[in-house]
Amino acid sequence: MHILEIKNLQLEFGAGKTAARAVDGVSLSLEAGKTLCLVGESGSGKSVTALSIAKLVPVPPARYVGGEILLEGRDVLKMTPRELREIRGGLVSYVFQEPGASLNPVFRIGPQIKESLRYHRPAAATDTEVIRLLKLVGIPAPEARLKNYPHEMSGGMQQRVMIAMALASQPKLLVADEPTTALDVTIQAQIIELLRDLRRQLGMAVLLITHNLGIVGDLADDVAVMYAGQIVEHGPVREVLQRPLHPYTRALIQSVPELETDVARLTAIPGTVPLPGAFPIGCRFNSRCPKALPACAAQTPELVPDGNGRQVRCPYAQSQIQTPKPPFAS
Ligand SMILES: Nc1ncnc2c1ncn2[C@@H]1O[C@H](COP(=O)(O)OP(=O)(O)OP(=O)(O)O)[C@@H](O)[C@H]1O
Ligand code: SF4
Ligand SMILES: [Mg+2]
Repeated sequence: MHILEIKNLQLEFGAGKTAARAVDGVSLSLEAGKTLCLVGESGSGKSVTALSIAKLVPVPPARYVGGEILLEGRDVLKMTPRELREIRGGLVSYVFQEPGASLNPVFRIGPQIKESLRYHRPAAATDTEVIRLLKLVGIPAPEARLKNYPHEMSGGMQQRVMIAMALASQPKLLVADEPTTALDVTIQAQIIELLRDLRRQLGMAVLLITHNLGIVGDLADDVAVMYAGQIVEHGPVREVLQRPLHPYTRALIQSVPELETDVARLTAIPGTVPLPGAFPIGCRFNSRCPKALPACAAQTPELVPDGNGRQVRCPYAQSQIQTPKPPFAS
């Protein structure tokens, strides 16, 4: 069974004539033990989509206009405040970019993790369990670390503590929103390795948002590419990265000099992502698309399965990709 199924999610900021639809018909699903990466330029709607999973985008200014978010089959959008409190940091846990901003500076890390345990697994709110979690995330000498304040730890160690805290509830789904962007490259690699190990050991589903296509290639089973509030391409990671079909996916990949190269922000595509409320008519990528045809500004493309496990929102994508030459002339 899917841990997560998002069906046709629509979310707006503001109301009436000024309402801006930041998430427009997003559908995604995720099974236990699998990793889905969500990629796209800044402002494309990745974080809003990810936060919606636990209904964490505050209402107002947001309005959940339509769709369903099923966590183990239960619709988050119909949950009571009490049910939402239980799933947040319970069934679904989050890790964000800035560990320093999420840890409370005035408490030692041991009590902070214990607090999370007390809420979700009261019987396990012990030093022994805190030490086990710190060991699980690779913190050396965890018995001594319990007494540290966050500022006594490096950024990488703080991020490990955040991950330990996220794991305290034994979540079935871990949502990591650019968990390594604030860290230096060596530490990034260690945290990614840690996420990979944890997924294997614990069988969690992971939704990972990243700007780093190297990480996507390393960690993802599937990848969804987002642009202007919509998914424009979705499929198995190897195929999407090696043979991208949508012109936007191709542009994203070409904007990274090498797949392994780290980039803080993908900004190399000329132009900018249109803002919600100001999406162009027709294909939302048309003003920036190197392959645009006159019809692209008139017709709104749908996300269509290509018959091989991939979905693409561009009617011309298939025909615009050059068919690779066979390795041997016949
Ligand atoms: N509270 C809010 N009120 C109004 N608009 C918002 C709010 N939060 C987000 N938005 C808008 O929704 C759009 C999507 O934002 P989101 O944070 O999901 O982008 P993102 O893809 O995560 O970008 P980044 O890569 O920079 O994190 C943006 O245009 C943003 O300005
Ligand atoms: S529909 Fe047209 S503008 Fe949009 S991605 Fe395809 S070719 Fe480009
Ligand atoms: Mg974001």
